[in-house]
Amino acid sequence: MIDPVRYLSNRSSGKMGYAIVKAALASRHEVVLVSGPVALSPSDGAEVVSVESAEDMYDAVAERIGGVDAAVMTAAVADYRPAKVSDDKIKKSGERLVLELERTRDILGSARDLMAFDGVLVGFAAETGNIEAYARGKLERKGCDFIVANDVSQEGIGFQSDQNEVTVFYRNGSSQHLPRASKKEIGESLVKIIEGVLVARRAGS
Ligand code: CTP
Repeated sequence: MIDPVRYLSNRSSGKMGYAIVKAALASRHEVVLVSGPVALSPSDGAEVVSVESAEDMYDAVAERIGGVDAAVMTAAVADYRPAKVSDDKIKKSGERLVLELERTRDILGSARDLMAFDGVLVGFAAETGNIEAYARGKLERKGCDFIVANDVSQEGIGFQSDQNEVTVFYRNGSSQHLPRASKKEIGESLVKIIEGVLVARRAGS
């Protein structure tokens, strides 16, 4: 929130996350959906935790992550929030208004160390260029098992679209391209990939 009537948000619809929830439920997994404000109805069967701010989402994830085998972080979490939320509606005055922002906490980046999560950790990276370099940077920095990257500058995929096209980058340096398909199909593929990582981890431990 900026003041009681205004807020900062972004163009993410939440469709990819909700499609993954649906695919996971269809594969008979138990699902906890921590969701920011979106115009979507969650599939029946998931435990739904509705949050508004990045801070609320951090707390909701921190509280529940210890109980899951895999955490999939699709949310387009705000990186900055207003340093001060005005109690009253901000009235217009001069020609310019400077809004001071401060960093929010990185939920995915806190999962390993601060939340001591040792399950399968999946991050997302929405980029407009240099996709592999940025995605691999996030993969390392945030301690993910894999990161799902897409190019949101391309028409017809990514934000708000019903379709997506992604590349999955793994820790061992390999990658896997999932060609353009419905978010439903991409969600199903990602659930299969997560199941594969879980099986491989269990076999290795
Ligand atoms: N993420 C998060 N908490 C934040 C910001 C991002 O958990 N405060 C997660 C997203 O859910 C996503 C991943 O981190 O899985 C990458 O998000 P992105 O916004 O692409 O990365 P940032 O770390 O914010 O990097 P940048 O803004 O520099 O691209």
